[in-house]
Amino acid sequence: MDFKKELNLRTEEINNILDEYMPKTDGKQKTVIDAMNYSISAGGKRLRPMLMNETFKLFGGEGDVIKPFMAAIEMIHTYSLVHDDLPAMDNDEYRRGKKTTHVVYGEAMGILAGDALLNYAFETASSAFDILFEKKVAKALKILSEKSGIYGMIGGQVVDIESEGKKVGTDTLEFVHANKTGALIVASMQIGAVLAGADRDDENKIVSIASDIGFAFQIQDDILDITSTTETLGKPVGSDEKNEKITYVSLNGIDKAKKEVATLSERALNKLSSFENKNEFLAELIKMLIKREK
Ligand code: IPE
Ligand code: IPE
Ligand code: MG
Ligand code: MG
Ligand code: MG
Repeated sequence: MDFKKELNLRTEEINNILDEYMPKTDGKQKTVIDAMNYSISAGGKRLRPMLMNETFKLFGGEGDVIKPFMAAIEMIHTYSLVHDDLPAMDNDEYRRGKKTTHVVYGEAMGILAGDALLNYAFETASSAFDILFEKKVAKALKILSEKSGIYGMIGGQVVDIESEGKKVGTDTLEFVHANKTGALIVASMQIGAVLAGADRDDENKIVSIASDIGFAFQIQDDILDITSTTETLGKPVGSDEKNEKITYVSLNGIDKAKKEVATLSERALNKLSSFENKNEFLAELIKMLIKREK
């Protein structure tokens, strides 16, 4: 398999789905719609919708019901980045290789664009009922709501902010990683499994694989914040040090962090290989996360 080619094809496919579902810049409220589209179309790896769709395919999912959820998870993820970059939070000026939304549109519009992306994600995801009127769509919506909220991403962001400049332990770090980053990655893969009709056991296994990926992904993000360049990342390096963040690297050092990324990714791959069904691309994607440079 030509992984790079397959990755590009899938990224393109996700961008087309986003184009289809994002609102058109029109009406008196067009400034905020423009800001929403700015942050979404700035780019990004599209990892979450990709993991969602690949998990859907792993369990033999068919049809278009996955599409509004793929668009919705990327909207929620992007909103979390728009707000994460605000002056009151990480105060960063670059994202996805461009000036952050609040820098271009002003702080008020940055806040509103984030709010709007969050709401529009749920408008979009609930339109899945027009494609398939089944209970599993309701279950997928419940997962999406829970994992983006106080028992998911927002919960992690709260503790991330409260821990700035403090000495906190491994349990707090694990809470932050599992929630601020892990929750949306878990939601992505779990929704893919649920919409494909996977049984409870398989769904639980997918949750455990996604948790490992989420943890590894955030550790790698923390490593790159130190070792990469702003040009490669498309966002400022040194943001964590500037904000005195607690990270896996600040607690354990860079070598241990690199080892942990490899260990977690291998563990996720082992669990994935225990399924009867195979998805070679998904396995390659998880391997890529160990080596990723952006
Ligand atoms: C960045 O996520 C925020 C984290 C949770 C680490 P990504 O690294 O997936 O960002 P994009 O979507 O590619 O810009
Ligand atoms: C952010 O973590 C996770 C979110 C929920 C946005 P970071 O603050 O480390 O993400 P980056 O490095 O700004 O992308
Ligand atoms: Mg942050
Ligand atoms: Mg940040
Ligand atoms: Mg970071």
